[in-house]
Amino acid sequence: MIARVARIAELKEIVKAWRDQTQRIALVPTMGNLHRGHLALVERARRLASRTVVTLFVNPMQFVAGEDLDRYPRTFEQDRALLDAAGADVLFVPEVATLYPNGLDRHTEVRVPGLDTLLCGAFRPGHFTGVATVVTKLLNLVRPDLAVFGEKDYQQLLVIKRMVADLWFEAEIHAVETARAPNGLALSSRNAYLTEAERAIAWRLYAALCEARDTLTRAAPSFQSIERRGRARLEEAGFQADYFAVRRASDLMEPAPEDSDLRILAAAWLGKTRLIDNLAARKFVER
Ligand code: PAJ
Repeated sequence: MIARVARIAELKEIVKAWRDQTQRIALVPTMGNLHRGHLALVERARRLASRTVVTLFVNPMQFVAGEDLDRYPRTFEQDRALLDAAGADVLFVPEVATLYPNGLDRHTEVRVPGLDTLLCGAFRPGHFTGVATVVTKLLNLVRPDLAVFGEKDYQQLLVIKRMVADLWFEAEIHAVETARAPNGLALSSRNAYLTEAERAIAWRLYAALCEARDTLTRAAPSFQSIERRGRARLEEAGFQADYFAVRRASDLMEPAPEDSDLRILAAAWLGKTRLIDNLAARKFVER
């Protein structure tokens, strides 16, 4: 049976006992409302480690004013049952005051400049500072051998990898590919906000990314023309696009003509719901 832990002292006691037995410890941070994508991270964690801590914390610091913090889906009992069945060992569910004892306004921040103001960072100012800060706290509390994140949030993954390298955290960072519905829609807790009519459209975000990837792989058009086409595909389908961008996979900078390892990333609104997705792409090279 998975242990539910809310206090830091108790969490530390459990992981210390594991460490004393030289168990290999994995951390899987989440905000709950778990789906098959989250469970794939837990499965990976269990393959790589002998003990898995999953954290469930809707982190207020990463929500920008006016976002969906209050209505973010909270389904604790269902999440606990899924994690129990998935074989996770501990579910850490702290209160906000436990992770932010001095309040949110007077708190140490971890910033990852360069990466944190691009793409989603430009539309959600401060979001990645909130993510980097809470992940730092969780890494320091658990001191895992490894932590697992999803490629679904590709920019987040790079922010965390950069932070872990810059601050010499010892945890290895592992990435798991995006779990999708049969029609291609990336699984996301925020899909719960979609109306039935929006659900019928949402997969077209993935379709626009696939089209861009296939164009990049087969021909060599300009990145700008691919971005324009992608944005147009989204608008035609009924989205309002924040961005549709072809970037260098390693650092999300604009690719130079010789860069071939690329990532196509998009964020778009469907009614009141903001969806994000991304795909790996390799550029066509003439032989
Ligand atoms: P959350 O959105 O709950 O996601 C938790 C983890 O699950 C992240 O690493 C995310 O990339 C991964 N994930 C979400 N949907 C996925 C999918 N369809 N396929 C594969 N992985 C998926 O991301 C966060 O929470 C927070 O920002 C957090 C890292 C917990 C910090 O608060």
